[in-house]
Amino acid sequence: MSTIPSDTELPSLRESAAYIARSGKPTAAEVLQAARGAGRVALQPRCGVGGHREMAALLTTLEQHGRPDVLTLTIDSHTRLRRFEHAERVLRADHRMLNGYPLVAHGWQRGRELNELVAVPLEIRHGSPDPRELFRVSVAAGVTSFEGGGISYNLPYSKDVPLADSLAAWTEVDAVCGELAGLGAVVDRELFGTLTAVLVPPSISLAVSVLEAVAAAAQGVRCLSISYPQGGHLAQDVAALRAVPELAARYLPAGVQVHAVLHEFMGVFPRRRRHAEELILYGALTARLGGASKLVTKTYQEAFGIPDAAANAAGLRLAALANSPLLDFVSVDRAAVDAEQDWILREVAEIVEPVLSAGRLSRAIVTAFADGRLDIPFSASRHARSEIIPRRDPGGAIRYHSPGRLPLSRASAGRNRRLLDGRTAGSACAGPSWAAARAGAPRASDEDLFTALRRDIDYFPRLFGEPAADRPGKEPPL
Ligand code: 5AD
Repeated sequence: MSTIPSDTELPSLRESAAYIARSGKPTAAEVLQAARGAGRVALQPRCGVGGHREMAALLTTLEQHGRPDVLTLTIDSHTRLRRFEHAERVLRADHRMLNGYPLVAHGWQRGRELNELVAVPLEIRHGSPDPRELFRVSVAAGVTSFEGGGISYNLPYSKDVPLADSLAAWTEVDAVCGELAGLGAVVDRELFGTLTAVLVPPSISLAVSVLEAVAAAAQGVRCLSISYPQGGHLAQDVAALRAVPELAARYLPAGVQVHAVLHEFMGVFPRRRRHAEELILYGALTARLGGASKLVTKTYQEAFGIPDAAANAAGLRLAALANSPLLDFVSVDRAAVDAEQDWILREVAEIVEPVLSAGRLSRAIVTAFADGRLDIPFSASRHARSEIIPRRDPGGAIRYHSPGRLPLSRASAGRNRRLLDGRTAGSACAGPSWAAARAGAPRASDEDLFTALRRDIDYFPRLFGEPAADRPGKEPPL
């Protein structure tokens, strides 16, 4: 029997909206709004296991021991790729072989069971370039937040899905959100600004999110979460978060709720528990100073894979320090943040404005990526050129070593170059392109750049003096 739900097997949108209203639970949008109103950061873990009973137990354990504001259903890879029947076969054979919860295979009724088990709203986190079935089942299950976008859930995850296809699929999702809003159920659409999670310059993350947000708002989406990955440089990260309301005012219609969300560091994590926890605390303070509405948490097991429930709850409790009333003394260099923010806004404008003024948005996005006027670093997709080369400057901030074909002004490109000055490997103008390098063996001159990039990527383990993690191993002691 096919597990792909037909429309007749799913409740109508009207029924789903009525279910959300009568559940008595706050929606994700309401939780975010309340957190912002109260000047606190809402907290959310990632979590997903294959078995239904196991998923239920995980959610209740996290709610009890981690006190999150939003809980997650992280979806398994087969479902992400629309291999619903395969997900169901694996589920039947051994649910432990799935790396997340196969919601489509379990079905919307079981989704409602999970939803009713916990007091906080649920979000779906996945990675699908085409999430239409998953979205319909999620809505039927009463889920009020859905992560992803036509760019951000394609280029970092898929090798050869045309952008036009993923953008069209996500336009349908956003249009259903518009219909649901008309029926009184606001679904928070969280964009995935983390992208490839490797040295993503803030203006690239935010530019992609702005374009996805404009597309979503045009379909009637009423609540947007702009997520940004912690890079590790406090002033730069705080500036990027504080840029979000400014970008919303510039590019999005009034009446759309827009939230800044911080992802605790998504790159190579330190292995020692103590170091991982220091980085988690740093992320929490960054979210607090940046005025984020929500923080998506990490755990001390990050370097070793998917965390168990105890580590996940511990990560939430540590991140909760973001909301301590005792930490008002923690502040940030205002002038440094303001300067970073001005430049971030300027770079984002230089990147997005030509696309926004080019006519039909999805077509303009496809063309711009084909030409490299839009680009993301380290993408495996053949639909992005990946000619951008990021580096860390001596202070740890992420800059453009090479902006590729991005239409940055001379002033912006020159500032990035100056800030990187003093680096030995490669040169900002003459550096080899990642795209060229990935096509074949690196040349000798590329080796220096790769070594340098490796250092930048290993920033935190190196900062803590941890030996290079060249082999998987047991978790080291505290
Ligand atoms: N449960 C919890 N976390 C998960 N991640 C991926 N799948 C799951 C899951 N099923 C986390 C990884 C990493 C981030 C990309 O997502 O551990 O932190």
